[in-house]
Amino acid sequence: MAGDFSARLISWQRVHGRHDLPWQVRDAYRVWLSEIMLQQTQVITVIPYYQRFLAAFPNIAALAAATEEQVLAHWSGLGYYARGRNLHKAAQIVVTQHHGEFPHSFDTIIELPGIGRSTAAAICALAFHERRAILDGNVKRVLARYCGIEGWTGAKNVEVQLWQQAEALLPASDVATYTQALMDLGATICTRGKPKCCECPLHADCVALHTDRVAELPTPRPQKAVPERHATFLLLMHGSEVWLEKRPSSGIWGGLWCPPQIDDGQGIVQDYLHRNGITVSERVDMPEFSHTFTHFKLHITPVLLRVAHKPSRVQQAGSLWIEVNEALSAAIPTLVRSLLSKL
Ligand code: ADE
Ligand code: SF4
Repeated sequence: MAGDFSARLISWQRVHGRHDLPWQVRDAYRVWLSEIMLQQTQVITVIPYYQRFLAAFPNIAALAAATEEQVLAHWSGLGYYARGRNLHKAAQIVVTQHHGEFPHSFDTIIELPGIGRSTAAAICALAFHERRAILDGNVKRVLARYCGIEGWTGAKNVEVQLWQQAEALLPASDVATYTQALMDLGATICTRGKPKCCECPLHADCVALHTDRVAELPTPRPQKAVPERHATFLLLMHGSEVWLEKRPSSGIWGGLWCPPQIDDGQGIVQDYLHRNGITVSERVDMPEFSHTFTHFKLHITPVLLRVAHKPSRVQQAGSLWIEVNEALSAAIPTLVRSLLSKL
């Protein structure tokens, strides 16, 4: 089974894979540089940067001798500048500790700054044709689908399963071609959206395809639980006028006009009315609704309170009685607008 998987990928790579990428050479410096650039950036973007970078720093000694400023100037536009800084630091380590020659041993390579398990393995496989399993984002997607592995691929237990599969599926030979095949399949066939399963060399026994879970796998990152808050909105009405208060300029709805709001633990409606000397002739509890902000979810209970007389002392700066129709075209949050339009 494992042999069959890799054999199909290797045959597919020979016909349909990418063969003209500038870093497809048996040179550890070039493979390393390309792998770092390709970590967060697509091939099409990387190529011109890669070529300019190599022209400026043609070998590890030249990179190590450059200033960080010069290195980052050539990284400018690629983003994630820690990659450039680590590349420079690693080049200096190679010069001072490895006689200027990029190390050949996986255990030494993985010690260099900016090189994790998958990148170290990719360098070993592509530059030295060593039998090593890789597991970058594309490969995680391919294996999660092909093997039908559920769970977010960033979760430790899922990663452990994916690494086991990646190791188990390795071919006995042709590891460089196989590694490039996995990368190319992930980039061109088994893509995140709309994978081309009909053209895929793995379709005969792909678990996701045969259990109709291609769209569900890999399982997306779980959403962080959003904190929930509760608040009561006091819709104080006098005739067709509503009482609004201007919010302080900081915080959500800063500077917007809103009904008085009682947050969790700030006491009940009766207390508010008593404190403010408000006499209510009718109270209607309206249905609760919720609104999700960036950092929390707010459950709002609107309470409609009809007042017989406008309270004498409540006319302060930053608060007013206003016709509901007028309020609808004022600076109010959308949520308050939809609430007022129901009155
Ligand atoms: N992504 C990461 N490494 C790659 C490589 N060697 N070729 C194409 N895409 C890649
Ligand atoms: Fe990916 Fe489809 Fe191929 Fe399965 S059959 S590995 S889902 S492209």
